[in-house]
Amino acid sequence: MQDAMADVLPDKRQVALSFSRAAAQYDGAALLQRQVADRLLGRLPLQDPQRWLDLGSGTGYCSRALARRHPQAEGLALDLAPGMLRHARTQGAGARHYLTADAERLPLRDACCDLVLSSLALQWCPDLHAVLAEARRILRPGGVLAFSSLVEGTLAELRQSWAQVDDQVHVNRFRRQAAYADAAAATGLQVLALDVEPERLHFPDLRALTQHLKAIGAHNLNQGRPQGLTGRQRLAAFTRAYESLRQPAGLPATYQVIHVLLRKSLFKGCCASAKRR
Ligand SMILES: C[S@@+](CC[C@H](N)C(=O)[O-])C[C@H]1O[C@@H](n2cnc3c(N)ncnc32)[C@H](O)[C@@H]1O
Repeated sequence: MQDAMADVLPDKRQVALSFSRAAAQYDGAALLQRQVADRLLGRLPLQDPQRWLDLGSGTGYCSRALARRHPQAEGLALDLAPGMLRHARTQGAGARHYLTADAERLPLRDACCDLVLSSLALQWCPDLHAVLAEARRILRPGGVLAFSSLVEGTLAELRQSWAQVDDQVHVNRFRRQAAYADAAAATGLQVLALDVEPERLHFPDLRALTQHLKAIGAHNLNQGRPQGLTGRQRLAAFTRAYESLRQPAGLPATYQVIHVLLRKSLFKGCCASAKRR
């Protein structure tokens, strides 16, 4: 079941290409991604997985952390973008296997993992239900799915500033928190945590903000985005609008980050009231 985002999210080939291209600059610009990943890793329940999966592993920051934490475990880094995986592998991301694949259709056996972790990747997946159902399928009983993603309100300053200029799509769209809550409930997994926290970065100017979005592969790829050159006057109006939001630390860019922790029951029939896929 696809949610409303399927119509507005960019084509998967474009997402893969964009992230593959961003791989070399990604780590230098991924301050927010590091903060979010550290928070997610810090919230994992204390258990020793035999096998873990880093879903949408990018350059492998989370894989490296999991490999350090669980040196005996067999780790798998999986990503849609081959360029990201190449980079992760050459930098030594600590996984035993690197797999180019789609989170919505995992080429993995049922009940093969104890931990599925995904940081800031699911906002790129058109079919959230499919991703969560796949994660549930490959989890062993007692296994945990932990993910972070971005929700509505992310980059609100950018959206708000462009809204003063025109009504075109300039900013990637993000799901509501309720969409994540519904999809989590539909898995039948036990919800250990589900909450949203804002993370704010500051930039000296708009050029730095745009470069940051490009370097992390998150510049605007949405369908309906403006094509071609942006007129000088419109750009000036946009700059004025964004500059009016300036804070002492610089131009703010706020990300609304959701953290979700789900556990697969050890017992058959538990959480049976929840809808199963
Ligand atoms: C913002 S990066 C995050 C990377 C890494 N988890 C981190 O925290 O640094 C998002 C990653 O998700 C990957 N991705 C997007 N859609 C995907 C999909 N359908 N299946 C697997 N990976 C996907 C992208 O290629 C990209 O590497």
